Amino acid sequence: MLTFDLHYHANIHGLRKSARLERLRRHRLCLASSGVDVVASTEHSYKKPRQSYLHLADACQGLLLSILPGVECISREGVDLIFLYPEENLLEKARRTFAAYSWTTGDAGQLARDTGGLLIVPHPFGLGTACAGNILSPLDYARLLDAADYVEIHNGAALLSSLLLKKSGSGFFPGFAGRCQANSCLPVYLRGDGLGWSIGSDAHFPGEQYVVGGVEADAFEGPYSLLVRKVRFEPVWVQAPPDRISERVRSVVMSGQCAAREGVVKRLGKLGGLGEGYLKQGFLRHTLRELWAARRMERGM
Ligand SMILES: [Fe+2]
Repeated sequence: MLTFDLHYHANIHGLRKSARLERLRRHRLCLASSGVDVVASTEHSYKKPRQSYLHLADACQGLLLSILPGVECISREGVDLIFLYPEENLLEKARRTFAAYSWTTGDAGQLARDTGGLLIVPHPFGLGTACAGNILSPLDYARLLDAADYVEIHNGAALLSSLLLKKSGSGFFPGFAGRCQANSCLPVYLRGDGLGWSIGSDAHFPGEQYVVGGVEADAFEGPYSLLVRKVRFEPVWVQAPPDRISERVRSVVMSGQCAAREGVVKRLGKLGGLGEGYLKQGFLRHTLRELWAARRMERGM
């Protein structure tokens, strides 16, 4: 059985060198421990995905692990999609071909094909603000799936939230719980026809890999060639979720903070044609005051 994690963030952008090296060291330790065969480095487009891939690949040299270059890029409608490539130079070509907010979900399939990549629809009904199923009409969601190679059927980032809600009783938050559960296990009727089924940890910190995709492969022709065949991955657990509720809460809070900061950047980028150049300035410099001003602009106040 070969295992693939098709949604992974090194999350090193903006860190000082010492912190970056420490995070990469921990990525290496955790990936060696999980024993996953293939990891797709899918950093957000405004967090230097090529450099993230290169750093992660460098940090993991010597492990029995293949790392594929990719990017999680945001469309004009505000939908995050993953573009995955067999080689770093194609990721670079993609960066030059389409920037964040410069394309629509209707273009995505053609963009992936033109740049030699595969298109994955991640967390279609996730909790974040950039999920295809939450933003697009049912018809546009179906069209996007028709053009895509994979739909993500299990998203690890939703897993702990989903477990916490089950533990605490989800009756108080039926909408939230429902989305958590759809995100951690996408219902079959929302998976489209003829797509591969991807599974991704969506880890933003080392050690956040719990469930990944497994496939039986007799002759392993290389990870990307295998992926081109639109594999329907089965869930494989590489680590049990933390037993203690406090540890689960801590992990959910850390991921939530990271997702909230990313959400602020996406929100700002979506408004007023701020574009990728603005995003590249780094989200830490953007204050909540700016977000508030942007919201006022959007409402025409
Ligand atoms: Fe992600």
